[in-house]
Amino acid sequence: MSSSAVSSSTSVTSQQDTGRVHLEMGSDGIALLRLAPAGTKVVTLTEERLRSLEESIGELESKADLKAVIVTGPGPKMFAAGADIKLIQGITDPVKGAEAAEYGQSLFAKLGELPVPVLGAIEGPCLGGGLELALCFDVRIASSDGSTKIGLPEVKLGIIPGFGGTQRLSRLVGLPKALDMILTGKMLSAEKARKTGVIDRVVPAERLLEAAREEAEKLSKTGRKGPARKLRGMDHWMSKFPPLRGFIAKKVAKTLSRGQARFYEAPPRALELCMDAFRLPAAEGLKREAKALGDLIVGPTSKGLVHLYFLTERAKRLGRGEEAIDLQRAMVVGGGAMGAGIAACMANKSIQVRLCDVATENLVKAKARLQKALAKKLARRRIKKHEAMAIQDRLAVSTDWGSLAQTDLFLEAVPENMQLKAKIFEQCKAKGLSEDAIVATNTSSLSVDEMAENFADPSRVVGIHFFNPPEKMPLVEIIRGKATGDRALQTACKLAVRLGKFPVIVQNSPGFLVNRCLGPYINEAAALMAEGNSPEAIDQTMLDFGMPMGPARLLDEVGFDVAAKVSEVLSAAYPDRMQPDPLFAAMVEAGFLGQKTGGGLYDKTGKQPGRGRAVLAGLRQLNGGESRSASRSEILERLIYPMVDEAYRCLDEGLVESESDLDLGLVMGMGFPPFTGGITRYAEREGLRTIVESLERLAGSKDPRFMPANGLKERSRS
Ligand SMILES: NC(=O)c1ccc[n+]([C@@H]2O[C@H](COP(=O)([O-])OP(=O)(O)OC[C@H]3O[C@@H](n4cnc5c(N)ncnc54)[C@H](O)[C@@H]3O)[C@@H](O)[C@H]2O)c1
Repeated sequence: MSSSAVSSSTSVTSQQDTGRVHLEMGSDGIALLRLAPAGTKVVTLTEERLRSLEESIGELESKADLKAVIVTGPGPKMFAAGADIKLIQGITDPVKGAEAAEYGQSLFAKLGELPVPVLGAIEGPCLGGGLELALCFDVRIASSDGSTKIGLPEVKLGIIPGFGGTQRLSRLVGLPKALDMILTGKMLSAEKARKTGVIDRVVPAERLLEAAREEAEKLSKTGRKGPARKLRGMDHWMSKFPPLRGFIAKKVAKTLSRGQARFYEAPPRALELCMDAFRLPAAEGLKREAKALGDLIVGPTSKGLVHLYFLTERAKRLGRGEEAIDLQRAMVVGGGAMGAGIAACMANKSIQVRLCDVATENLVKAKARLQKALAKKLARRRIKKHEAMAIQDRLAVSTDWGSLAQTDLFLEAVPENMQLKAKIFEQCKAKGLSEDAIVATNTSSLSVDEMAENFADPSRVVGIHFFNPPEKMPLVEIIRGKATGDRALQTACKLAVRLGKFPVIVQNSPGFLVNRCLGPYINEAAALMAEGNSPEAIDQTMLDFGMPMGPARLLDEVGFDVAAKVSEVLSAAYPDRMQPDPLFAAMVEAGFLGQKTGGGLYDKTGKQPGRGRAVLAGLRQLNGGESRSASRSEILERLIYPMVDEAYRCLDEGLVESESDLDLGLVMGMGFPPFTGGITRYAEREGLRTIVESLERLAGSKDPRFMPANGLKERSRS
């Protein structure tokens, strides 16, 4: 191979991905194996690529003058992003799943067992199957480029690394570090991967292939295949000394049996497999790993998580609209809970943002909030000091709006009051907002159409509904008013994706999607409490269902004032089934708003009963003082089935385009259990007929509010 072919990772010319690996034999006996033709943007390990890798390994085995092999990606910033997820989706037979794993395991081993040194020159994602391949190399050299990401994220898809990952990583870095990587699915930078022991050396991007080549020559001269590897210190003791190994396993198993983790099968299986790496012969460990992959890959959790993965990819594509503006400057008015968080998200993603408020103290708080978040990131070494300073500089706060002539996006986040919002829009016109700028509202319940009436060109008005807290919540509902144009809509979607969120487009209507589906849920929770069920019993039932938080805790978090306001809007729109429960107004009147007033149904720790229980007791007295405890299945039917009905109503009314929007929206917006794959997947598994019959029974025996919509009834018949 000519040295120029391996001297630079950037000198490759772009070609189309043929789906195959690309082998170049050098005249010096060093072979360069690219996992895809030069220039391929994303490399996944499809069946075709694996077969072509097998052919190339066969070719390498037959070369008498071979001195070393360097395995690399197609060019800069890409090694291998992992298995082809469509392949994972398509496997429905556990035996086939196990066979696929065994094939991958032995194929990668074959490459590693070549009688010459096999080296990896890694830049870009080296994930999942990509890393499992790399684990078979004798030496792994990575580029320090920021695109290099090393990890085994399989658990995020409900499976375990099945191409040898649990066995080979555990033996390479030891039990604690392997568990940390495999159970979290975290991605490491090149440097962190070096410290963990996955990568041997980190070099600058432009030196990557050269360094691999030097190392290959050095090894081939000494006749060694690679460095001797041995676990040392605590890594050794914690992996090889059975009592310590058992201690770790017990601790980890306990964590995995708590909270939301308990719903996922893959992590405990991975834990056992990582232990097997030290207690079984290698071949036996690999066999068990393959079997585990086969079992998990066909299970409902994996299928649900893979479904969600594709939905997130679909949501990201919404950010690629051709008419979307590439935002440079934004103005956010209202620097409270939402505005401050939204502005911080924008500053983090390179948008110059001006945050205005009438209250100076709120602006000071907004700055401090960003500062605190950045300090945390700095402490965890997620960003560098100069980056943190640049982010802070991008967020300007002021009580004075200044001129809006340069603003690309104007977003209001003042309190939920139509008159106030209309006044803000009047003001923004007076301050010279350009006719090209997009105008957005973060309202959670008011009409975007009514707001658009303030503008000569209503096509530029759009709702961008972030959830609280904006820094953490992954969903943004993009509200399309009657007049909202494509440019405004696409810009809003692009912004959401740029901020690392998932946009779901929802037509303008009361409660939009998520709050509307939450309406019957929190109303019914309040009704169950008024009947005598404890907040704890209701919350526990929902936690056991897989919700991240029960409805009573959720009410405390959101605040009874907000719940009262939203339920007012919902009851006006859907009076037949969403009458606000008296608890909301009673809690507001008593001044127990929830966490923001130091407690509500729970105290401020969120664990013990709060002062609001007295209000609840009063309401129960008004109901005749009767107290009954509903069974867990009744609680579940009354809380979840009406939500299913409401979600399908949103679809049938054309609020959202597809079931996919319902699935993604409710998982990302309210934490509907991800392992179900979303609310429609859950409903199908539960049986639409079961749900309809239950709701009809409740409508007959309890209250007509439970009556399911015709749309759901028809669906249940088909
Ligand atoms: N809090 C939530 O959970 C949540 C979630 C999604 C959407 N929203 C929506 O976001 C909007 C803001 O809600 P919030 O919770 O941030 O409210 P908030 O009360 O925390 O903040 C509102 C801010 O607006 C400021 N303000 C009031 N009048 C102003 C004016 N004339 N000019 C400039 N600033 C003014 C206030 O000083 C305050 O800082 C509302 O429309 C709400 O419905 C709220």
